[in-house]
Amino acid sequence: MTEKWWMSAVGYQIYIKSFFDANGDGIGDLKGIEEKLDYLHDLGVNLIWITPFYDSPMDDNGYDVRDYFKVAKEYGTIEDFKSMLKKAKSLGIHVILDFVLNHTSDEHTWFIESRKSKDNPYRDFYIWQKPRYENGIRKEPTNWGSFFGGSAWKYDENTDEYYMKIFSDKMPDLNWKNPKVIDAMIEVGKWWLDLGIDGFRIDAVSHLDRAEFVDSTHSKDIVLDWNKFSNLPKVHEYLKILNERLFKPYHAYTIGEVGGAASIEEAIKYASFDSNELSMVFNFDHNWCNNIHDIDDLKDLKVNVKALKDVFFRWQNTFKRIGWLPLNWLNHDQPRVVSHYGSLEYHKESAKMLANLLYLKRGTPFIYQGEEIGMTNYPFTKFKEFNDISTINQHKDKFNDPNVDELKLAKKIGMTSRDNPRTMMQWSNKPYAGFSKVKPWFLVNPNYESINVESQINDPNSILNYYRQLINLRRQSIYKDLIIFGDYEIIDYENEKVFTYKRSNENQILLSINSFSKETEYFDMTNYEIVNFVIHNYNDILIENNKIILRPFEALAIEVKEKK
Ligand code: NOJ
Repeated sequence: MTEKWWMSAVGYQIYIKSFFDANGDGIGDLKGIEEKLDYLHDLGVNLIWITPFYDSPMDDNGYDVRDYFKVAKEYGTIEDFKSMLKKAKSLGIHVILDFVLNHTSDEHTWFIESRKSKDNPYRDFYIWQKPRYENGIRKEPTNWGSFFGGSAWKYDENTDEYYMKIFSDKMPDLNWKNPKVIDAMIEVGKWWLDLGIDGFRIDAVSHLDRAEFVDSTHSKDIVLDWNKFSNLPKVHEYLKILNERLFKPYHAYTIGEVGGAASIEEAIKYASFDSNELSMVFNFDHNWCNNIHDIDDLKDLKVNVKALKDVFFRWQNTFKRIGWLPLNWLNHDQPRVVSHYGSLEYHKESAKMLANLLYLKRGTPFIYQGEEIGMTNYPFTKFKEFNDISTINQHKDKFNDPNVDELKLAKKIGMTSRDNPRTMMQWSNKPYAGFSKVKPWFLVNPNYESINVESQINDPNSILNYYRQLINLRRQSIYKDLIIFGDYEIIDYENEKVFTYKRSNENQILLSINSFSKETEYFDMTNYEIVNFVIHNYNDILIENNKIILRPFEALAIEVKEKK
């Protein structure tokens, strides 16, 4: 294995719109990021991924790009970007940007041209198909559904054809079979790499190819069938071209979003050390190991700890010699982890436990903004509070039903909505959580008065300082090599409440012990001798009869020796 800088980096994801508003218009911006770089540096972060800030009509908060070479006016100017990048570099922080390859906005000039006529030079930049007719009624070319609800096709009167769009109507899918699309995207990539960025998080990368246009057999109606546009063979062909012509010459670091559809076998194709495609991939298998889809109230939440162990074991074990993984609990599309896997009753303990569980594993951490202070899901009560196009499209019909109990439905959808991670970053207990001086573009979680950076930054017992300590362990402690490169083994596989794993190398052994329980649990130390207490979310340790007594959500890491 050749060691790369990103293996020992600690990443942080910035959802720019909600991070920090420097110019007082209620929208986060590039200057806001620049102002907060010292905070990130102090936390120990040395890699940031910034979500799209390109010119966009903002149908999907910037993932619908109108012009890849322009900064959206809401977010600032290209000069702001350069200045932010310069400061990041001076602090030793690497910067990667979101590269949106699967689609553009319908307001991108390529699409404006493409829809004009069938013989327009840009026609084949997108995926067009003729309608089908059944009993004289016009129908979509196939019954494929979109991720955001409804059909994956949109009819365009102008040329009497449908274009494909697996996300929103305003996000037409690019046709990667057309070599001109590949050339155009390489130009985009070069332009940003030439400015000095370190690489890309690649959006929706597994969807760049489409199956043959025949109906999904999963249903007679419109149905979301991932197989029709996920992980198809040509995706790897396209990525090898991008790697050869773009990533490799620039030594760019790349992390692809491959979603839940990619099995480990698929992930290996994308991101093993010799795949010649991507540096690593985000997967989301560990994000849904609870009963969230079956309950109406968070009080009934149960985490399936064994399922979580199983997922982590499979990924960590498979990748141990052949590739590298990110370590992430969430991103801007997932519920807040402390609400999802932790406990609001044991907020502080569980937020620290979840960090202790994840960030002592092998891989590159990607902390999502606000996770480091234990930000929670938003307490949604009404339909009109939701903003995310995917949440709205998928659930509007249910809310329109006059018999629906709006509060109950809002609470249910609120448990998984992509709007949760998008509320404003909670910097202080000042108005609007210190995010902005004016009313922000979207909600501020009312708990900002107690959960915020300012109240945690100087408190040695805060969640924020637990993150700082964990990062410090990874970046500059005597355990650094062990944590980054050591072997990984789960040692209490059958335990449904406590997740303990061992990291080891020739010189050291570290146990990370993490309780998901509100009751007292135990960890048996018979086989171990304690060498050093490394990190702990309670202030003292209780040991009785060779067992560590674990209080609710207790988590610790200890250096041990194994007894012969
Ligand atoms: C994945 C992104 O994470 C998500 O926010 C976006 O809506 C889709 N890709 C489409 O770009």
